[in-house]
Amino acid sequence: MNQLPLAVVTGAARGIGEATVRQFAANGYAVAALDVNRERGEALAEQLRAEGRQVQFHVCDVADAQAVDTLAASLQQSLGPARVLVTSAALIPNTESIMDMDLQAHDRMWRVNYHGTVHACRSFGRQMVAAGQGGSIVTIGSINSVLPMPLPAYNPGKAAIARLTQLLASELGRHRIRVNSVGPTYVMTPELQARLDSGVRDLGKMMHVHALEFLPTPVDIAEAIAFLCSPQARAITGILLPVDSGWTASATYMTYAGGVPWEQDGKSHQN
Ligand SMILES: NC(=O)c1ccc[n+]([C@@H]2O[C@H](COP(=O)([O-])OP(=O)(O)OC[C@H]3O[C@@H](n4cnc5c(N)ncnc54)[C@H](O)[C@@H]3O)[C@@H](O)[C@H]2O)c1
Repeated sequence: MNQLPLAVVTGAARGIGEATVRQFAANGYAVAALDVNRERGEALAEQLRAEGRQVQFHVCDVADAQAVDTLAASLQQSLGPARVLVTSAALIPNTESIMDMDLQAHDRMWRVNYHGTVHACRSFGRQMVAAGQGGSIVTIGSINSVLPMPLPAYNPGKAAIARLTQLLASELGRHRIRVNSVGPTYVMTPELQARLDSGVRDLGKMMHVHALEFLPTPVDIAEAIAFLCSPQARAITGILLPVDSGWTASATYMTYAGGVPWEQDGKSHQN
């Protein structure tokens, strides 16, 4: 039986999931990395094993409840019950109208983003309960969990994940299983950088509604996730922790019709 505690990460081949795999592997966990992207997932696991980490990659479509359940049982056999679960698998859309959206794509996004989160929390949550050792689950929300954005499946899906997180926290607390969510703003991933470089996104417009002058990186999100899973967070459950460079605080403040104080002419103020 595996000696290291097991952390399971979905959507592990890229972005926040990948950074989370690296973080937990470095923190002394055996990590099961789950994703539909075999090529990237295997390359990541191979690279980390070469660095002496214990990381396995498994192809898993989180939209398929049976596949998640079967894999959870097999991981329990080989590596023991999960102590940590991070659900990062998701499809990320472009702006669209509810009137024009493709309903099949809409349903698929719910299957992956919301149902996929339910499937993973259920399969690995059940084994955490049965093992009786407690545990920690972190779902991935977003600033979309908090306010409307023109992403008809993604945006309400993230609000639903925030509520699901509270339900799970309430249900699993008596088993010493804590369930929290992180809510990133736009994360400075290579994909976002490419969009900025090609002019598809305007960094100035994005930063206008943040308090800080930089966006979080995938590592910033992974650090917050690791904190939520650590003993230092032992009394924290059911929360949505914004990792958002101050977007939650500033989005309405910065768009106030009367302007912001430091842009008022003829008034004295400090920068
Ligand atoms: N990038 C951002 O700006 C941002 C902001 C807020 C929240 N988030 C959230 O963070 C999480 C990760 O985002 P990211 O930026 O790392 O995205 P990403 O696209 O880089 O990574 C998502 C991963 O999920 C995998 N995946 C997709 N469908 C899957 C499925 N059916 N089963 C298993 N794996 C699947 C992909 O192959 C990919 O490796 C998502 O929940 C996303 O909504 C991202």
